[in-house]
Amino acid sequence: TADDIYNVNKGCMKDAVLIFGGGCTGEIISQEGLVLTNHHCGYDAIAGLSTVEKNYLMNGFAAANRNEEIPCPGLSVRILNRIEDVTAKVLKATKKSKGEAFEKKMEAFMMKMEKEQKALGFEADIRAFYSGNQYLMMVYQRFSDIRLVATPSESLGKFGGDTDNWMWPRHTCDFSMFRIYTDNNNKPAAYSVNNRPFQPKYHFPINIGGVKEGDFAMTFGYPGRTTRYLTSYGVDLAVNESNPSVVKIRDKRLGIMREEMNKDMATELKYASSYASIANYWKYFIGQTEQLKRLNVVDTKKNQERDFNNWAAENKGFGGLFDKYKTLYDTFKRHNKISIYQREAFNAPALNRLAGAFYSLKALYAAAEPDTAKINEAIKGIKGSRKRMMKAMDLTTDKRLFSAMGLMYYQDIPKEQHPTIFSGDVFKNYGSSDWSKTFDNYTEYVYNNTSLLNDTKFDELMAGLNKENLDKDPAIAYAFNVISNYKTNHEAQAMAFNYDKFDLDKSFQAGLMKKNVGQMMYPDANGTLRLSYGVVKAYQPKDAVAFNYFTTGEGLLEKYKAKDAEFDLPDNVVSLLRNKDYGVYADKNAGTLITCFITNNDITGGNSGSPVINGRGEIIGCAFDGNWEAMSGDVSFDQKYKRTIVADIRYILWVLDKGLGGNRIIEEITLRK
Ligand code: ARG
Repeated sequence: TADDIYNVNKGCMKDAVLIFGGGCTGEIISQEGLVLTNHHCGYDAIAGLSTVEKNYLMNGFAAANRNEEIPCPGLSVRILNRIEDVTAKVLKATKKSKGEAFEKKMEAFMMKMEKEQKALGFEADIRAFYSGNQYLMMVYQRFSDIRLVATPSESLGKFGGDTDNWMWPRHTCDFSMFRIYTDNNNKPAAYSVNNRPFQPKYHFPINIGGVKEGDFAMTFGYPGRTTRYLTSYGVDLAVNESNPSVVKIRDKRLGIMREEMNKDMATELKYASSYASIANYWKYFIGQTEQLKRLNVVDTKKNQERDFNNWAAENKGFGGLFDKYKTLYDTFKRHNKISIYQREAFNAPALNRLAGAFYSLKALYAAAEPDTAKINEAIKGIKGSRKRMMKAMDLTTDKRLFSAMGLMYYQDIPKEQHPTIFSGDVFKNYGSSDWSKTFDNYTEYVYNNTSLLNDTKFDELMAGLNKENLDKDPAIAYAFNVISNYKTNHEAQAMAFNYDKFDLDKSFQAGLMKKNVGQMMYPDANGTLRLSYGVVKAYQPKDAVAFNYFTTGEGLLEKYKAKDAEFDLPDNVVSLLRNKDYGVYADKNAGTLITCFITNNDITGGNSGSPVINGRGEIIGCAFDGNWEAMSGDVSFDQKYKRTIVADIRYILWVLDKGLGGNRIIEEITLRK
């Protein structure tokens, strides 16, 4: 019932679904605060805990007892306490303001609400729904003593790698398990050996009876972002410029990283997590572009827009909306590509991000009466980020990224938009007919002469820093030139585009609500709790091809390739598969182990790790991906093709139990058949 799903007066399902880390979903599956999520959601924590000697990422891990569960510094989860509609309050606080003025008032309002909730031990998060036609406040409790309980080896947890990513059929055992710890009063607390397992208001039971096609399936989780009301102009820009730009830059970036990572395990572990997330969205944008074209989404959008225009002709207040969109995109066009290159290419090397951080000091120093407290705070921030960056970067890789990204920026951005340092320093002093040599030589100069990468020199630089010498370091000089070129000529325009688009989107969606009054209307995903209901369902990806709705242990063995970077498996798991040692986890009807299955639920990034639940509220699997043929789904949902890819809960428990020897963990789970 709706009451089982959300009720602020008793323990219910929403109390057992949480935001895991920065942008995933997890669910509580025991009375002792045990959390199930995806392997790719735990990946950053697992890689962070791994060393060449104790390599949990490579070998997997299952804590033999509570004392062995490993604290994950920096990792936290949030559980929803309640949702409040604050639309009226937002309207009152922001009056009729627009654009930047609105943003400022909104920020002040949010700060006020955050403060109020903080005093009560909660976090407030206010989100716009229907592009600002509604505002809801999410009130969360954050827990920050989170410990790793179990993870399969990367070979299983990321089985199929980037080759299988975003695709069905799939055999990935994409899970990991953590535990929430609290103080003695069951309240959130920083890590302490004296903390004890969290006693949740509710936890999900697990059903190992298996699924059949047509069975009810529901997901409950935290989808991050969709843009289903994007106009034909927006889709056109994505397909023809934004997506290909991101893909091209990431292609290069990933190639360099992979080469260096293959050289040694320490570099591999340093970059494993960022490589995986860059690669994930590299392939995402390839797939999205392909499917937006294949499914003629621009035409679909154009038809919807014509429809809307016809309605608007007879209804006041919504006329000429799409002419305005057209003008807006035409004006923004020349600022789009450089915005992407600034974010994706310039920011790729750690040195540019670090040097760029000094930019915040520029305005502070330039003030008529410089605020020393603010300056010191900014300096502290820079020192903190440097510490983290130095740990996370490999010098050779960073240099190669600096050179390659600089060259790409130079070649792909129109000359008249270039920062002056390209002609004024890079080519003036290091120019050769071979442009890549030019950037290589310039890179050598910058990395050999910057003080940012050496501890002693860095301390000296910081001690003597002042208004006059702020940009004397060559890395900072380069970063300042590129950044100020962008800020002076493009940033305000890009921001204006976003503000104006927000206003148009708000009108468009208000119009749609009026036009389709009485019908349900999907609010775009915005990182808040959503459910989606559907069924277990097969599909036909293309003419004459039919996909089954589940994959099996035999299929896993078929894909297995010893020592391969993407399709290897642990030896003990290979033996278990060959012996068909599936135990209680075998599927009675199929007579084998079912590894993954698909449903027609509507999920997106952020939903990763979501519980997939049957009609009795029992977990049947853990959602971890979407399928290739519907990669346009975030922009336009396709009923026919869109599927959610789920790791069958029996596959997860089989690996945990037989593969990792984690039966003591299974004992605390509520199992049903
Ligand atoms: N595509 C998945 C998602 O965004 C992530 C899968 C992670 N696996 C990988 N091979 N990168 O939810």
